[in-house]
Amino acid sequence: MSYILKAIKGELGKGQTIPIWFMRQAGRYLPEYQMIRRNYKNFLDFCYSEKDAAEVTIQPLRRFDLDAAIIFSDILVIPDMMGFDVKFSEGYGPSIDLENSKVQNGFDNKKLDHLIASINITKASLADFKDKDFIGFVGAPLTLAYYILQKNKELREQTILEEIASSSNRLTEIIEQLENMCAQFLITQYQAGVTVLKIFDSHAGILRNREDLIEYSVKPIHNIIKKVRAKIPQAAIIIFPRGVAENINLYKQITDMGNIALALSEEAKIGKIREHYKCALQGNISNNIFFADDTTLRNEAHRLMSEIDRTSHIVNLGHGILPQTNPDKVKLLIDEIRKYQ
Ligand code: CP3
Repeated sequence: MSYILKAIKGELGKGQTIPIWFMRQAGRYLPEYQMIRRNYKNFLDFCYSEKDAAEVTIQPLRRFDLDAAIIFSDILVIPDMMGFDVKFSEGYGPSIDLENSKVQNGFDNKKLDHLIASINITKASLADFKDKDFIGFVGAPLTLAYYILQKNKELREQTILEEIASSSNRLTEIIEQLENMCAQFLITQYQAGVTVLKIFDSHAGILRNREDLIEYSVKPIHNIIKKVRAKIPQAAIIIFPRGVAENINLYKQITDMGNIALALSEEAKIGKIREHYKCALQGNISNNIFFADDTTLRNEAHRLMSEIDRTSHIVNLGHGILPQTNPDKVKLLIDEIRKYQ
């Protein structure tokens, strides 16, 4: 069995490979990614490109000793496939224009087929490697709603908080619709050949109130997993409620379902989380560590390795690799962690 699946089941034995992968391990910090990226004006066309998307998915595995590939795509392919007008602008990032959106309660099958094809192609390339996991993912409903309900990035957090405070059902309705879409898309990715599923709730941290977090982050993620498990009972799932600080305890009802790993953002203290959680943990090295000198970087690897439970940990960052990162620093961190096996 591959090592991430073992870690999620708490079955990594002594001396066994500790799984390592990094969020945004494919991306702009790699010159080989930039070479291909240049051929696309539109980032979403790149996501639907099949061969090129599969190629950049594999690139980090050629360069580094990693234990998983994560399919090259984006959380915003779900709204895009539903007919929301999703745009990625250089220097601004993603934005969705509701006025130009023609939304349907289902996916554009042509686009979905492109994503399935890139999973199929990647899967075939992964046959050249040994024991690799293959991660498929979605953004959680709250995080998708964050982009859908407000195109101006300065106003997104405020818009979500205003929707919660108002008596309108707009947020609840969109979240319910997205639960179905997310579950359906995770099932599709699994059936196409990924081995692990990840749910990114990257903007969960904007909700400070516990009841709100339960209603708009914990419940939707829980519902998605129930729907996925109804079709694929054995599905191994990583949940990532980013930036929720001490409210991370609220996700226990989800990890208690079993076969679920909890991904930690960098503010989390692994030792403290362990007191509360028995499940596998993932994380949580700062993505800024790659800008530190080599000694600091090595010390961070040792700090992490001294804090984790070796039978059930997946080494990763607390957030994605930044575009300015030097790939040699990424290799140095991996090499340092590998000294432990
Ligand atoms: O390597 C991987 O991790 C797999 C691919 C992946 C991408 N986006 C590719 C991408 C994954 C898993 C994501 C998830 C994603 N996308 C999240 C959740 C994770 C997180 O970072 O919290 C979010 C919030 C998004 C939305 C999004 N997509 C943003 C905010 C941006 C950055 C815009 C910018 O210009 O910096 C993107 C674009 C994006 N997604 C890039 C990549 C490699 C860079 C775009 C490019 O190459 O031009």
